[in-house]
Amino acid sequence: MVTRILDAEKGLDEAVSLLKAGELVAFPTETVYGLGADAFNGDAVKKIFEAKGRPQDNPLIVHIASVEQAAEVARDIPDEFYILAREFMPGPLTVVLPKSDAVPGVVTAGGDTVAVRMPSHPVARRLIAASMPLAAPSANRSKHISPTTARHVLDDLDGRVPLILDGGECGVGIESTVLDLTSAVPTVLRPGAVTEEMIAELLGKVGSLSPGAVIGRAKSPGMKYTHYAPSVPAVVAMSEEAALARYDEIAAAGGRPVLLMTEPHRAAAGGRAFISLGEDAVDYMRLFYAAMREAESARDYIIIEGLTGGGEARSIMNRVLKSSGGNVIG
Ligand code: TXA
Ligand code: MG
Repeated sequence: MVTRILDAEKGLDEAVSLLKAGELVAFPTETVYGLGADAFNGDAVKKIFEAKGRPQDNPLIVHIASVEQAAEVARDIPDEFYILAREFMPGPLTVVLPKSDAVPGVVTAGGDTVAVRMPSHPVARRLIAASMPLAAPSANRSKHISPTTARHVLDDLDGRVPLILDGGECGVGIESTVLDLTSAVPTVLRPGAVTEEMIAELLGKVGSLSPGAVIGRAKSPGMKYTHYAPSVPAVVAMSEEAALARYDEIAAAGGRPVLLMTEPHRAAAGGRAFISLGEDAVDYMRLFYAAMREAESARDYIIIEGLTGGGEARSIMNRVLKSSGGNVIG
């Protein structure tokens, strides 16, 4: 199969035709690029699992273009959904709801719940509105890092999908927050740009599951997989001192390390290899995945700045720890 990349404006009509014919289309969202198929067409959705090499037991998010469309894919929708929707939809929040019969089991990995999200990216919104609700995971090969540019998608899926819509760089940069509204207490299964604190402000009590608890309850099957093992070793450094010391150690032994840090650390880094994560947590979130892809292709040891605290920092650290196998220093 030949994979084409088209500018999102020019390629939209063709993308809609492909989706209606049961084919896959990769498209930009505000979080990361998605790999979409008609959510009501089980045979089309199966192609997603084949193209990504994704385990069959990991359910997909269904992307919708309006709040009303949630009723096409979910049933018994609780008030909390509409309260959240007023504040965060469209946006980087996914909500787990009881599934409607219209959604084939392959989307939900046989489960009776469905994850629903309304992306805010204009290309995603137009694509869904012109076609249908789209089942879409991140558009990377299974276990590789999520793509934040069309080029990243091509690097992972060349020859495996017919069309990639290019809508530039994703603005948020990590995958959406996944919130389970089918449990007794609304529970964050995957932290993201919509933070636990923001949700708690609206809903009152909110729980979050540690990755271990998620495995135990098999609540969000995707959480049990190491999402991303970089092809070179990576560590998270909780202090600038530890980062620089590790860098010098690796370099002295003949290695080619690189620092992934925010700008405030650039001066101290001096002449060491440095990939910028921007000025603050919002920049860090947006730039992290692209920085990891660049680092693993150019260097042989990655040292990542660790963050402390709640809010965005906690969501970022969730991905940083996954990307480094939980390897933390100083
Ligand atoms: O930002 C995003 O969410 C991106 C863009 C493309 O929208 N999508 C994304 O999809 O990250 P994916 O498949 O890479 O991650 C979906 C996560 C997985 O951890 C999966 O296990 C979980 O959501 N999930 C999906 N359906 C679920 C369900 N019914 N119950 C619990 N967890 C679910
Ligand atoms: Mg993914």
